[in-house]
Amino acid sequence: MTFSLRRSDFPDDFIFGAATAAYQIEGASFGGAGPSHWDTFAATPGNVRNADTGAVACDHYHRYADDLDLMRAGGFDAYRFSTSWARVMPDGVSVNPEGLDFYDRLADAIVERGLKPYLTLYHWDLPAALADLGGWRNRDTASRFADYAQTVVARIGDRMESVATINEPWCVAWLSHFLGIHAPGMRDIRATARAMHHILVAHTRATEALRAAGQKNLGIVLNFEHANPASDIEEDIAAARRQDGHYNRWFIQALTQKSYPEDILEGFAGHMPDGYENDLDAIGAPIDWLGVNYYTRSNIAHDPASAWPSLKPVPGPLPKTGLGWEIYPEGLHGFLTRLARDYTGETPIIVTENGMAWPDTIENGRVDDSERVAYFDAHLQAVHRAIADGAPVKGYFGWSLLDNYEWAEGYAPRFGLVHVDYETQLRTPKASFEAFRQAIGGN
Ligand code: FCB
Repeated sequence: MTFSLRRSDFPDDFIFGAATAAYQIEGASFGGAGPSHWDTFAATPGNVRNADTGAVACDHYHRYADDLDLMRAGGFDAYRFSTSWARVMPDGVSVNPEGLDFYDRLADAIVERGLKPYLTLYHWDLPAALADLGGWRNRDTASRFADYAQTVVARIGDRMESVATINEPWCVAWLSHFLGIHAPGMRDIRATARAMHHILVAHTRATEALRAAGQKNLGIVLNFEHANPASDIEEDIAAARRQDGHYNRWFIQALTQKSYPEDILEGFAGHMPDGYENDLDAIGAPIDWLGVNYYTRSNIAHDPASAWPSLKPVPGPLPKTGLGWEIYPEGLHGFLTRLARDYTGETPIIVTENGMAWPDTIENGRVDDSERVAYFDAHLQAVHRAIADGAPVKGYFGWSLLDNYEWAEGYAPRFGLVHVDYETQLRTPKASFEAFRQAIGGN
């Protein structure tokens, strides 16, 4: 099983990588990490499938050297990882030296293997002590985040190829405060409107601090999901437009045009923090690159029985991944070209996550994940077409290096290029790992 494209089909300086995130792989019980809101969310009945937690995860805290050996063996150019705020600052404020030491060793280990480190500062492990103070509802959290960002970068920034502030603001704000699916599991429009703004203030404060400290190549990672109207009736088209607004337009419009979409502001009327307009100029300061996470599309119907935004996702007709997500590579091409055309211009875009869950099984020590090989193949073709159409896409990271803790879904869905046996922590590269190795030239 191979991909139809190879490294040589992409621009010379195109980066191929794989991505992970701290809470999903490290093991939050090791190394003096403090409790994060994910620990408390997972410890609360009904929030996470099978009551799974990130306490041990893939034990990457102890096995990072072997995991990075796999990255090198696959021939990857770059490794995208995150640092855990709760590990670096267990109470949200004071530094845990053991935590910083771990990331120092990790940074060295990445560089020693010839990999370019792509750091993400916030991939969702908010210290519980800051959640106590209101988390992302509290504007002060943005300043605390800037302090944390400076602390991490002061220690490992010298070795970082690039730094992203926030992973997926939509998930941090909407999924976690409106839909209640991720920590802190709230369902409240006022909390949501505040989080939708404060997360961008956090990005801005951290970026300002890191720039002042001389750190180069600063960006942010947004997730995008194509919003397909469930039918061609006008109400469904309008509902899909609202979905596109809060999901796909809100953050990128603020970051590049210093404004929020009017249709979403209308829905948030009365709930935005006072004076939010005064932050927009700073939020719109240029970024060096944009990270794009893309997985699927949704099919959106008007739902007159529910409050604004009065919409509901309905099942669609396309083939689906193990999590029931429709496979829609055209959406990736669509976003890469749309972003460059409407928002980011010549600013480099990097696909920072793309991949699929599948109920993989090991047989005779092998995982033949042909569905995943086909998924990656189709999405790499979409990237290739976007580049041909003029989008300045500079890299592609598969999600994920390892099977890992898939948040509210626990350990059930497997997204890895490498299979993880959670009993023994044995790693087994899948056919998709081998397909990358062949395409990009690992040994
Ligand atoms: C993204 C997250 C990542 C992973 C994938 C499947 O939203 O950034 O941590 O859970 O989805």
